Formats: sequence, structure tokens, C-alpha cells
Amino acid sequence: MSDVSRRDFMVSAVAATVTVHSMTNAKAAFAGNTQTNPSRPVVIASGNGEAATKRAMEMITAGKDTLDAVIAGVNIVEEDPNDMTVGYGGLPNEDGVVELDSCVMHGPTCRAGSVAAIRGIKTPSKVAKLVMDRTDHVMIVGEGALRFAKAHGLEEVNLLTDRARRIWLKWKESHSDRDDWLPPAEVPDDDQVVGYHDYDWTYGTINCCAVSAGGDISGVTTTSGLSYKIPGRVGDSPIIGAGLYVDNKIGAAGATGRGEAVIKVCGAHSVVENMRHGLSPMEACLDVLKRIVDTTTESRLKRKDGKPNFNVSLYAVSKRGEYASAAIWSGATYAVNADGESRVEDCAFLYKKPGKGVTK
Ligand code: GLY
Repeated sequence: MSDVSRRDFMVSAVAATVTVHSMTNAKAAFAGNTQTNPSRPVVIASGNGEAATKRAMEMITAGKDTLDAVIAGVNIVEEDPNDMTVGYGGLPNEDGVVELDSCVMHGPTCRAGSVAAIRGIKTPSKVAKLVMDRTDHVMIVGEGALRFAKAHGLEEVNLLTDRARRIWLKWKESHSDRDDWLPPAEVPDDDQVVGYHDYDWTYGTINCCAVSAGGDISGVTTTSGLSYKIPGRVGDSPIIGAGLYVDNKIGAAGATGRGEAVIKVCGAHSVVENMRHGLSPMEACLDVLKRIVDTTTESRLKRKDGKPNFNVSLYAVSKRGEYASAAIWSGATYAVNADGESRVEDCAFLYKKPGKGVTK
């Protein structure tokens, strides 16, 4: 929620009736990138996943399993200190501690694994895969997840980079004038370097889903979650059916953005169920976004015109290799690798983004 100030977000308390553009309008606003090819392999990801789609497709083309491929793809972003919304270098919780969420689903074997609020491990997607492969459970959280990861040889490290610490400290010192944390008397002239204003508030995440030429489907979602969250807060990303869902007969879907909204509508599962009932990936995503709008009743989560003051993006790929992504607000992008190239495309949307006041 980078361009919504915390203050605007918190005081947006004007009750309003939700007005949703019709599906027809939303579709008309979309340039069109749903494509069909029964045997075409496709990797789709959130906008920060172009490199992930490329690596995953290389592995799938080399005959690797689709889940191993998408995990290897998102590992690039998890290990990248410059992506402050995922893995190492992610923005921390309100105590300054980075807590990560991730889940994986393997279509061919109908299996899943998940970790939530895990600290100290750069690649929670690998831990989620280990939960799937090496336990009788689907989800392990918190301290138990860290101990489990260490038992499997993953290294415990400090995930808080200096840049993330400085951004967190600025938030800590400036979000309230009713505590004892004070900003420096002289504000350092380093915003261009640190990028404070890009990270007032974020739900950033990476989702990556793939279908192989043989029709096998897998997906992964991984995130540092809502910046400055209450410790222990878990978003949609590690929840099977919310931040990710895979059905090897139908397709896969994932979500980024405000996790609380996605959880309430079982977002990714709902997208896949829509595809099961005949909707295209884009129609499936737009329908679920409309449900999110309809189920957003809190005035603090709405703009004055009644529309949500947050964003959610959904991503979907069908077994046949059709794909699409849509968001509540315009301006979002997604990455795709298909037909021999990785590229970033615009998401479809319900509402055209005004100049200010909504997230990207
Ligand atoms: N979608 C990421 C989160 O809400 O944590």
C-alpha cells in the first residue's frame, strides 16, 4: 500500500455504498491477453516475478517437475535483498522482526505444504516444500517452523537488512506522536537511496504458477507479508485456497495484495472453481475481485466513493495454458513466460486508478 498514507488509510471512515463496474466494463478495459494453446507450457507470476518465470520455464523445458521449477523461480526473489516484500530483505513486523509466509501445491500428486510467521530462513518456499514432502502435515508456523527448517539443514540468518531496518525505524518514529520514539532532528537526505516513500505500507508478495507441456500444474506463493504487522499476523499467502490453489485437472491461481480480503473469499480456490465451471482465467479472476469488493463492508477500508482503498491482484492459468491476471485497481502488472519469452503485462482491472489514494 505504498501510495496510501497510513493516516489516509486509518481515517477513511466515510460510509458509502459499494459500486462495482460491471464485468462487461472491466473486460472492456482490458487489452486482452488470454490465449489458448492446449499443449503450450506457461509460467505466470506477479509483476516482480519476470526472472522467476524465466528460471521456472527453463527448468520445465529441461524436464524438471513443475513445483521444483516454480520454487527455484521464486527463490531468486526470496534471496534478493532489494525486493522488500519477499524473503531476505523483506520489511519487518512492528517489532522490527522479519516474519515470512509461504505455501506450495503440487498438482500431479494433489499435495500441499505451508509455513507461516517463520523467522530466520531466507527461502520459506523451500520449507513449505519440505513440510509437504517430509511431514504428515500441511502447515507449520512460527518457532516450530524454524526448528523444522533447521532440522533439515537450512541456515538461520538475520533477515533484516540495514535498508529494511532504516525504513522500519522511520515508520516506528513517525507513525504516532503519542509514543516515545522521535524522528531525528535533521532528516537525512537519503530518501532516494533508501526509498522510504515507496514503502509506507506494503502487502507485496510473489506468486508463481506453471503448467507444463504435459499438463502438470504447480504453484507457490511467498511473502514477508504486511509491513509493520502485528507479530504473528498471517496473511493469505501461506493459506491453501487463499493465496494459492492448484487443481491438476483445472488449473492454478494465486493472489497478492491485501491478504485479509483474499482470505475472506477463499480467493485462489474461488478462481479455480470458477474455471472449473467454465469461466476463462480472466473472467474467473474478475468475478472473485468483485466478490472481494462486495464483502468489504468496513468503512475504514473504503474510499469516499465506496470503492476499496486497497488492492488485490489475482493470477490464473488453466490446464490448457490460458492465462490472465486481474486487479481491483488499474496499474498492476504481472509476469508471464510463454512462447519462448518472459514479459511483463498489464493486469485487467475493475476500476481505473485515480491519480492518488490507492495502492499499486
Ligand atoms: N498478500 C500478502 C499478505 O497479505 O500478507
